[in-house]
Amino acid sequence: MESKRALSRRQILKLLGLGTAQAAVLAACGGAPAQQAQPAAGGQPAASGGGSGKLEIFSWWTSGGEVEALNALYDIYKKKYPSVEIVNAALAGGAGAGGNMKAVLKTRMLGNDPPDSFQVHLGHELIDSHVTPGRMEPLDELYGSEKWNDVFPKQLIEIASYQGKPYSVPVNIHRSNVLWYHKGLFSQAGVDKPPATWDEFFAAADKLKAKNIPALAIAEKDPGFTGHVFENILLATLGPDGYRGLYNGTTKWDDPKVTEALNTLKKALDYANPNYLSVSWGDVNDLIVAGKVAMMIMGDWTNGLLKSKKFNDYGWAPAPGTSGVFMALSDSFGLPKGAKDRDNVINWLKICGSKDGQDAFNPLKGSIPGRTDADLSKYDDYQKGAIADFKSNQITPSVVHGAAAKESFMTDYANVLNIMAAKKNPDEVQTKLVQAATDANFAA
Ligand code: GAL
Repeated sequence: MESKRALSRRQILKLLGLGTAQAAVLAACGGAPAQQAQPAAGGQPAASGGGSGKLEIFSWWTSGGEVEALNALYDIYKKKYPSVEIVNAALAGGAGAGGNMKAVLKTRMLGNDPPDSFQVHLGHELIDSHVTPGRMEPLDELYGSEKWNDVFPKQLIEIASYQGKPYSVPVNIHRSNVLWYHKGLFSQAGVDKPPATWDEFFAAADKLKAKNIPALAIAEKDPGFTGHVFENILLATLGPDGYRGLYNGTTKWDDPKVTEALNTLKKALDYANPNYLSVSWGDVNDLIVAGKVAMMIMGDWTNGLLKSKKFNDYGWAPAPGTSGVFMALSDSFGLPKGAKDRDNVINWLKICGSKDGQDAFNPLKGSIPGRTDADLSKYDDYQKGAIADFKSNQITPSVVHGAAAKESFMTDYANVLNIMAAKKNPDEVQTKLVQAATDANFAA
């Protein structure tokens, strides 16, 4: 079955946190970068050779679901180019999403020793961290030769673009505002449905507590996970417009609703697995699988992960208070200037953007494809719902996953929420968030 997903301009702009004005700036090739991106010495990616040598790929995909999905892309590559040695330089852990990988990546990029290609979130993370400093090759010729302008929504390409040229190839769209729950634990505690609001969450949490079951999985060994949960509480408390306003300057970070959201988080932390400061993001899913915690607010890579662990006793719902909203992010790959195996990278990008590649990768990853011509029969019930929701819901950008704001703010935000997890001190934390937002200079 073929599905045509028409994304409105508004949806796509909101997906990556860009306002119409910013998009117009991009489209009109305006906006002076600190340092202008220059075409690589070799010019645009053209018809490639490849077929020998290496292909080094950076990602932080080391968990169940992630590994299988990445391998599905590698398998297609290996069949086409059996003599190329794929160097899978995946690195887990660190602060925020992919913190360890991003640290190594930064060193390599700054040292003019880039990996051949690397996982990067579409939007601010791609553009601000890599494109405007002039470290990526434009991919407009590749988009042309692969006819991607016909199959990726125009506005999605626009968001992958800087000064009118695309700089990466989106492999997916993930939803980050999902509540995953253990059905067996819900039955044990007499919770008959997933909580639709934070009030319902706390009512369910009390029932679970009466059975000595922590309600909420948290993994805050490194900064990041609590920030993910908090962006969901912010969305629930402020609504989509108020939430977007945090990143375009129209909602102030000292707003009483932000205080309210911090207090909700503080209360929720009291229902978390008590050891959460020593649990890592990569291990937290096992608490759900083992029936030790009842709920987790996390992105839909969790769907891929739980399936890979052959765990079936789970359900899902929008995170409390976020029904009708799709908090989105997109993983992509690009071509760094000076990539050692440039022809092999171009072949890699072709597979990332192909229908076969996307329909092999996404069913395992838990995400939905970026392309509009996916074969829906390959996707599970969760994903079919997500594809439908993406068409009908309001779209908001995730901050922890690179879409809403530049990386320096994301890092500050994750670190501040890590303090919140440790000290549960909303006043101090809100002051620090205001400072981080001032430093990031979100303009109205
Ligand atoms: C996100 C990334 C997803 C998934 C997740 C957890 O930032 O976009 O693809 O990998 O982190 O690792």
